Amino acid sequence: METKHLAYVMFVLVSLFLAMAQPSQASYFSAWVGPGCNNHNARYNKCGCSNISHNVHGGYEFVYQGQAPTAYNTNNCKGVAQTRFSSNVNQACSNFAWKSVFIQC
Ligand SMILES: *[C@@H]1O[C@H](CO)[C@@H](O)[C@H](O)[C@H]1NC(C)=O
Repeated sequence: METKHLAYVMFVLVSLFLAMAQPSQASYFSAWVGPGCNNHNARYNKCGCSNISHNVHGGYEFVYQGQAPTAYNTNNCKGVAQTRFSSNVNQACSNFAWKSVFIQC
């Protein structure tokens, strides 16, 4: 009885911990082949710089938490940042020119 109760408490605590450790809404940049936010979609969510595949430039969605991500018109996030996002959800279903994005984690 006592052991069962303890096991239950442990189970609840571990479940809570796992739920909190899970990043429920991580930052990501989603890009579509298009036209618009349609057809094949690629998602970039790793920390730091990601090149955006040249075949997915028809539309995008940028969702982030924390520090604002930036987009570059060059590969490898070189040079001057073209765009710094200011709202936490950004979507435009039209062509864009960025070649890479930088996500702060
Ligand atoms: C990004 O693209 C450039 C040019 O094609 C390449 O040299 C570089 O290794 C790529 N970077 C990543 C992180 O894939």
